[in-house]
Order: sequence, then C-alpha cells, then structure tokens
Amino acid sequence: MNAHVQYQVDPVVRSKLDFKLEEVPRFWFAGDPFRTRVFDALSLTFPDGERYFIECVRLFRDKIQDPDLQARVADFIKQEAQHGIAHDKMNQLMKEQGMPVDQFTTILKKIFRFELTKRSPQYNIAMTAAAEHLTALMAETFYSKKETLQEVHPYVRALLAWHSIEEMEHRDVAFDVMQQVGEVPEATRKFTLAMTTVLMLGFTLYRANVMLRCDGFTGMQRLQLFAKGLPWFLGRKGILTAMKKEYLDWYKADFHPSQHPVIHQYDVWVKTYNETSDPILAGQAFWEAGY
Ligand SMILES: [Fe+2]
Ligand SMILES: [Fe+2]
Repeated sequence: MNAHVQYQVDPVVRSKLDFKLEEVPRFWFAGDPFRTRVFDALSLTFPDGERYFIECVRLFRDKIQDPDLQARVADFIKQEAQHGIAHDKMNQLMKEQGMPVDQFTTILKKIFRFELTKRSPQYNIAMTAAAEHLTALMAETFYSKKETLQEVHPYVRALLAWHSIEEMEHRDVAFDVMQQVGEVPEATRKFTLAMTTVLMLGFTLYRANVMLRCDGFTGMQRLQLFAKGLPWFLGRKGILTAMKKEYLDWYKADFHPSQHPVIHQYDVWVKTYNETSDPILAGQAFWEAGY
C-alpha cells in the first residue's frame, strides 16, 4: 500500500434508507431553478453511472488476491447499488415533473455499454477510479461549510449527506483495484480524470438547460439564469472551484485517495444514524456540524 496513506474509514453497507423525497418541492435548492436543475442533472446520472462503476470493478474481481480488498470491493458494490436505488427515486420524481429523464438515461446507458464493450478494462477501471475521485470530494465540497447547502431542502440535503459520507468511506476501493491489479498506464490514469470531468460538466450543464426548457423558461430567460448561476457553480469562489487543490492532487505520481483527511464531522453522521436509524436526522446533524 502507498507510503503516504493517512486517513481511512471502512465502508458500512446501509440499505433501504428513506429520505421522504416525495415531500420535496420542485425547486428544492433555495427555490432557485438553475441551482436545482444543475444538481438534478448531476443526480440523474448517478444510478446508471454507479451501475457502470460496479461493472468496471467486476472486470477485475478474479485478479484480486488480497482478501481485504476483496471484502472492500464487495462493500463498494453494495453501497453503489443502494445509491443507485435512492437516486432512481429522485429520477422518478423528476419524471413526474415532466423532465425527459428516460431520454437522458437511454443515452447514458448506450455510452456506458460502448465503453464497456469497445474500450479496454484498463480504461474502464481508470474512468471509474477518476469518477470516484470526484465523488470522494463531495462531502468536503458540499458540507465543510454550512452556507454551501444552507438553502437546500433538508431531505435532499440528507440524501446527499448519506451519499457523500459513503463515497468517502469507499473512495479508495476502485483506486486500489486500479493500482493493485489494473495494470493501468500512468498516462491513462491521468487522462481519465480530465475526460470524466469534461463529460460530467458538459452533460450536467446540457441537461440542466434542457430541464429548464421543460420547466417553461424561454431561451432568453435560460441565458439569464445561466449568467447568474454559473459563477456560483464554477466561478472563482464557486462551489466546485473550492476543491481545486484536492482535485489536482490526482496528478501527483504518488497520489492515493486516503492522503486526504476524512471530513471532520464524519463521526457526527455515523453516531446520529446509529442512535436514531434516521438518515434525515443524521443528515441534518451532519450539515449543522459544518463550519
Ligand atoms: Fe455512490
Ligand atoms: Fe462511489
């Protein structure tokens, strides 16, 4: 294992969590259509994306000798499957709002099928590890400061909190598979983070625009929404820009995900959930414990 490994928490499989998403209003992020649809656009890729990650890790399962990594792969698969189920529910609600979710996911399924059948296992596991690098940063990006998600509906905030802490728990699994049995060239590893970032951002903004059109906003109104909203997302003090340093750590030759500290209030989520079995209360406590 990497000499710089410092921080690690073990994956715990938690299933059938209920976030009462049916009670969430249409524009759940500060009543703001742009912010809501950007997050919706990102969220709707999760179920198919996570099923793709599972397939990619499975490509290497037979080669893994280390029983500890075998066990973590099993937990990774179970956690991602649960995330897919929870975000499928959110997709269902978007559909009921008239959003073309099926159209988006049909394209996504085709892309992932193409990647799995036409590209090498090395490329696919590197894409997975790179995408997991992005999701591993979610907890810190969204929850380190309370103000970031202050105006998000508490039920969605709780869903994202649970997903974020589990992404942090299993953040090194796909990476360790890639490093230990993936035989992935360094150039491929580095390329895939740039690739997955461009794809994720491009698709998110494209889908947000389509969804806002379905919400009834004209071209001019959408232009105004984007002009006002993009700095919040990607500007100099934008919510994604805050993680630039951790993001770029990927390009260090000796990078390992566990070099990044676990979010300081991780234990608050675990303790509250263990005491109450309520993921909404756990999410609320987790968010409140931010700076
Ligand atoms: Fe996930
Ligand atoms: Fe993940």
